[in-house]
Amino acid sequence: MARRYPALGFRPWCCERQTVLADHIELRLEALGRHELFLPSDDAAEKVAALLEPLYTDGTVEQYPARRRPDAVVAWRHQEESFFGPPVTSIAIDSRLGVDVERWLEHTLAAAMPDFEPEWDLLLDRSYHQARRALLSVGAGIDSVIQLGEVDAARRRFRSAALPAGFTIAPMEPDQIDAVVGIYADAFAAEPQYCWFGADPRFLESQARRFTDALAAPDHLELVVSEGARIVAHAGATIAVDHPFWGPTGGMSLCFSPSARGRGLLRGVYTSLLAGLAERGARAFRGGTSQPAVMKYSREMGRTLEAIVMRPGAFFEPDHFAPVLAEP
Ligand SMILES: CC(C)(COP(=O)(O)OP(=O)(O)OC[C@H]1O[C@@H](n2cnc3c(N)ncnc32)[C@H](O)[C@@H]1OP(=O)(O)O)[C@@H](O)C(=O)NCCC(=O)NCCS
Repeated sequence: MARRYPALGFRPWCCERQTVLADHIELRLEALGRHELFLPSDDAAEKVAALLEPLYTDGTVEQYPARRRPDAVVAWRHQEESFFGPPVTSIAIDSRLGVDVERWLEHTLAAAMPDFEPEWDLLLDRSYHQARRALLSVGAGIDSVIQLGEVDAARRRFRSAALPAGFTIAPMEPDQIDAVVGIYADAFAAEPQYCWFGADPRFLESQARRFTDALAAPDHLELVVSEGARIVAHAGATIAVDHPFWGPTGGMSLCFSPSARGRGLLRGVYTSLLAGLAERGARAFRGGTSQPAVMKYSREMGRTLEAIVMRPGAFFEPDHFAPVLAEP
């Protein structure tokens, strides 16, 4: 029988809960340690603690087995303000490899789901196959995959190319923010399967603020592609110079207007992005996607699967991600 911890609010924690948190942090660090690009450090441990701690201060935690160091933990909390826009249930699942916890995860998730918001924030490490199956069995699906690449390796492997004739690429200017945000808004209003929150006005406002901040830095890596005088695409990377897990890392984002798609633009755009990442000293780059074109090029670049984004009502069948999920 699993232990159920009641929500503790901001009251002082009981020792028991702190012990479970410490074990949970260890499980997550073990999972991160299985990624080739992971750089173990105190910063990494602190970052994991900062990610998990809120779930322990005002969330619910279930562990298995109940009375000793856990082989599996499911922790969740309500989050009213999320970067997506709507409220979400933020969920963390971790487990020890080689121990059978699938049934327990399945029962725990099925029992907890009535408390969850319709939208979740759940990144499941690539190695958690049992948790993935348990989530699928209770009706969640795969929304997208987070892929991780090494800049130098990707540049060696990826066949670079110039943009097709008629297109130009240049650093983004502040007076182009509205046009760029408009490309994202239109794209995801038309095709929410590629980003369910992408056309939410609250998310778009946060994107406009993000661009304003990014463009204030002289060496930003936000690019616009134009065809003649018209902006037809954005591609960029926010570089975290001291990412606690992967070292200097670019968080990728790209969106083409419908008129620019299917015309072979992506190879030239990635060529510019990878060059820009290398010039700025980025070691790694990462991004979430459900786009077949992006997954295809990810393989050419030697990117690996970092995590799987799971949520109820996911648009695609798991098979959509098969080439990426086949990795370890
Ligand atoms: C994702 C996106 C950038 C791809 O751009 P695109 O113009 O369709 O890409 P390209 O035409 O340059 O094609 C790139 C490669 O993917 C392949 N490809 C395109 N669609 C594909 C599909 N459905 N299945 C498999 N391969 C596909 C192309 O054949 C090409 O490969 P090649 O160079 O070997 O011929 C664009 O569709 C887009 O902006 N979509 C909306 C926004 C979005 O989803 N952004 C999130 C991205 S993570």
